[in-house]
Amino acid sequence: MWENIVLEKEGNIAVLSINRPRALNALNTKTLLELDEALESVSKDGEVRALVVTGSGDRAFVAGADINEMKDKNAMEGREFALLGQRVFAKLQDMPIPTIAAINGYALGGGCELALACDMRIASSKAKIGQPEVTLGITPGFAGTQRLARTVGPAIAKELIFTGAQISADEAYRIGLVNRVVEPEKLMEEAKNLALKIASNAPIAVSLAKQAINKGIDVDLSTGMAYEAEVFGLCFSTRDQKEGMAAFVEKRKAEFKNE
Ligand code: HXC
Repeated sequence: MWENIVLEKEGNIAVLSINRPRALNALNTKTLLELDEALESVSKDGEVRALVVTGSGDRAFVAGADINEMKDKNAMEGREFALLGQRVFAKLQDMPIPTIAAINGYALGGGCELALACDMRIASSKAKIGQPEVTLGITPGFAGTQRLARTVGPAIAKELIFTGAQISADEAYRIGLVNRVVEPEKLMEEAKNLALKIASNAPIAVSLAKQAINKGIDVDLSTGMAYEAEVFGLCFSTRDQKEGMAAFVEKRKAEFKNE
């Protein structure tokens, strides 16, 4: 269906792979547009409860935006390209289901930014992560200056972005950029197990919790708490809340129906 994206469903989880291994999965316009469509189709699929995002091949998650495509752009075209990536990554961030980046190798520039737009990140021990844009004469443009600073704090984000350094998976874990580090052969299993664990919980509650956390990052505490109270209240209009609490009282496993 798509040339540069592979989307596989396994029960109620989905795995989306950026699939341009010969260019280390670099993101060109075509790949971003296909990613947009693939995310749309996952969002509309009522069965999928968690999404794993990874890169094809064993070398790269995504080695950045496509330098060949960018090299001759003028200022206006550069801005348009940044806006396209920002829009697609915003869609990823706003997916109604949790998303997990399985970082299987290089996650550089736009690749690091793609991982940052996911809710959680698991890295292979051989992953290399960084924002090397300034070594090419550009800044990050797919929201790296914003999401990296929000994820690891401004001082660490500035060091990474100003130096363009590639850091190891262990270092990324130490600074809170990835949730955990696993051996390469365990990466997909670990990411899928996390997705399955999440998928076993009440989907609407998980989705509302995600929305509350994401909203809270951008607003003051009292606005965030007001939003939390709204989504908390909303949970009580779901069948899954009745089921979850009835199952607790009856000492049985809850069976959530996403309703
Ligand atoms: C286009 C890329 C690419 C990229 C790798 N390739 N990264 N093509 N854009 N970002 C291609 C190479 O040209 C090469 O193609 C093939 O993938 C294999 O890469 P090699 O360089 O031969 O591999 P290796 O020597 O092992 O080095 C791996 C690497 C290096 C360290 C990851 O490829 C590298 O530094 N890539 C660029 C990383 C980067 O600067 N990313 C940030 C881009 S800017 P051929 O045809 O020669 O075999 C960015 C901005 C985002 O992301 C915001 C935009 C608005």
